Amino acid sequence: MTDKKIFTLKVENDIGIVTFDVAGDAMNTWTDEAFESFRDVLGCLEQDTGLKGVIFISGKPNNFFAGANLKMIEEIKTREKAMEILNVFHESFNRFSALNIPTVAAINGHCLGGGLEFALAFTARIAKESKTTLIGLPEILVGLFPGGGGTQRLPRLIGYPAIELILKGRNLTAAQACDVGIVDRVVPADSDLLKEARSFLDDLIAGTASLKRPDHDFSQIDAVAEQARQGALKATRGRELPAPMLAIKSMQEGLKVSLEEGLEIEKNYFADVAVLPEAKGSINTFFIKGLTDKPKALMTRGFEPTPLKKIAVLGFGTMGRGIVIDILRNMQVPVIVKDIPEALEPGRAFVKKILDGMAEKKRLKGSVDDLMNLLTTTSEYSGAFKEVDLVVEAVFENIDVKKQVYRELCDAVRDDGLIASNTSSLSVNAMAEYVTHPERFGGTHFFSPVWIMQLVEVVRGEKTSQGTVNNLLNFAASIRKRPIVCFDNPGFVVNALLFPYIRQTFQYLEEGNSIEKIDGAMMSFGMPVGPVRLTDEVGIDVPYKVFVGLGEEQQTLKNVVEAGRLGLKKSGKGFFLKDGSVDPDVLPLIAKREPRERSAEDIQMGALEGMIKVGKDLLDRKIVNDPRMIDVGMIWGTGFPPDKGGPMKWADLIGLSERLFGTMFY
Ligand code: NAI
Repeated sequence: MTDKKIFTLKVENDIGIVTFDVAGDAMNTWTDEAFESFRDVLGCLEQDTGLKGVIFISGKPNNFFAGANLKMIEEIKTREKAMEILNVFHESFNRFSALNIPTVAAINGHCLGGGLEFALAFTARIAKESKTTLIGLPEILVGLFPGGGGTQRLPRLIGYPAIELILKGRNLTAAQACDVGIVDRVVPADSDLLKEARSFLDDLIAGTASLKRPDHDFSQIDAVAEQARQGALKATRGRELPAPMLAIKSMQEGLKVSLEEGLEIEKNYFADVAVLPEAKGSINTFFIKGLTDKPKALMTRGFEPTPLKKIAVLGFGTMGRGIVIDILRNMQVPVIVKDIPEALEPGRAFVKKILDGMAEKKRLKGSVDDLMNLLTTTSEYSGAFKEVDLVVEAVFENIDVKKQVYRELCDAVRDDGLIASNTSSLSVNAMAEYVTHPERFGGTHFFSPVWIMQLVEVVRGEKTSQGTVNNLLNFAASIRKRPIVCFDNPGFVVNALLFPYIRQTFQYLEEGNSIEKIDGAMMSFGMPVGPVRLTDEVGIDVPYKVFVGLGEEQQTLKNVVEAGRLGLKKSGKGFFLKDGSVDPDVLPLIAKREPRERSAEDIQMGALEGMIKVGKDLLDRKIVNDPRMIDVGMIWGTGFPPDKGGPMKWADLIGLSERLFGTMFY
């Protein structure tokens, strides 16, 4: 027997009670040690002929089993290794389900992935209602699908609805799991789960427990699978991601044969998927999401942030409005906004409109009126600015305007009031020159629309103190943003990586490759919109001015901007018409280069290689200290496909990092 003893068996009146606890870990996950210990207990159960039944219950208060250990899956390099791991799961669960006594899984807390697959190998399941009781197979969200029997045992238990649960990776509460037939009994939150499980087991032994085990008819599986395939393709805008496609195949083929044969089919497809870059990329996205889910974890340990009891926002334009919305709805503190008189009413009306929409969808704490009462608008500085703990500046992107704004602002606020600029392209270091006590000044670069985009870049200027960085991270946490921290740099992180991407794709356009072809190539890579549409949506003058600021004149952008076409939303004309098609009037404005036809793959690789090179440069110059920060920025700032894990991880996964630099970023 292993001395780890994750699983311990106690026998009471011919009933086995197995408690399990991966000591030292927050969650129980399947590791080599867990399986070793499980098999020890299984051996005892197989030999003990006097046992009438057995219950498995977690020793952790809020966790049954959270699934396979993702680190273990991430490290799988070959199909053979995947098979080796799968065999451990399958042999263990098959042996368990072959026990000739009734078995009960007593579920409290997360019962996910390999945890649910384990629970499915029991005779029956009882679950306790609780906020943390979540039951499901979320593997698809990390580029995998259930490979421990889930694609075979779940449909055999609950029928066709299993397909959607697996393809959406949806987690259910105890009551929902009972409704669909995964769980047989639900007990209230304040009940004694073990006692209830014993009584359930007694009923099973006596043959008085009624278990719903309908005979499911899978004769229509081909049609159902085809429908599921179409649904999965719609969700990915036509991209064939391997995990959902192979999950469907596993069910379609596996439900036509015996469970034993079905499990073999599942194993084979899972081994295919586990070694693919999509799985590794998705797992990376899962981990870097966890890293930035709680911005306070990025603060210096033990730091006590300055309470933000009142906040001012300068500028009530596109960004100022968005920032105000997020402060009001997440912090419920007084906000003063300063802008010219004409900007105040439209700004207020816009904020109210968005808050009303959120209230309608029940996504708002408190009433819209109460939140609007927290908002004051002004065109003049007043004594109220002395009470402000943080000012976020979002005025015109012009260094002379910013200079004047900072000079006036510093007279109006306390010397210790925090100040953050939302500039997208000006230097935080240059602006710090106009701020008294510049250690309290830094950047908070939000993305538009602020209330939808999760990312904020917290920019540390040369003079910004660590305390200010910590306080800005605390602000990010307060308005529920996902922050990355970087030093001052043209375009900070996200735009710095977008510049070469836009530059390269416009070069392809000028070589005679169509807008449709270029946007299509990047969308089939997984970008939410193509580069030309992205340019149109942010405003064509924005990248144009950025390139000018970098000392470059992008000829096509120049032609289009000079023709008064700033983008469909901004000036009514840009690259596209309202119906989404390319506006033929823009075509003569595309500058000409020597024609060269490019394949979709050439376009993707060319556009992304530039991105990766900039990422490497940011790391070399220590603008960011961790490739994960770049990947978080690109996934949550631009919609870079999560299944690629971010550009830096993707470059590692496809061997580009090695080829370009002879090294890996991760
Ligand atoms: P905007 O033009 O929509 O709004 C700017 C507002 O600032 C206007 O309402 C204007 O009246 C006001 N303003 C000008 N001078 C002022 C002063 N002295 N005092 C108070 N208010 C003044 O501009 P937008 O797009 O909101 O941009 C604001 C800042 O946010 C800029 O620094 C921009 O680079 C940055 N940014 C913009 C993004 C975008 O997608 N629009 C994205 C990220 C950052």
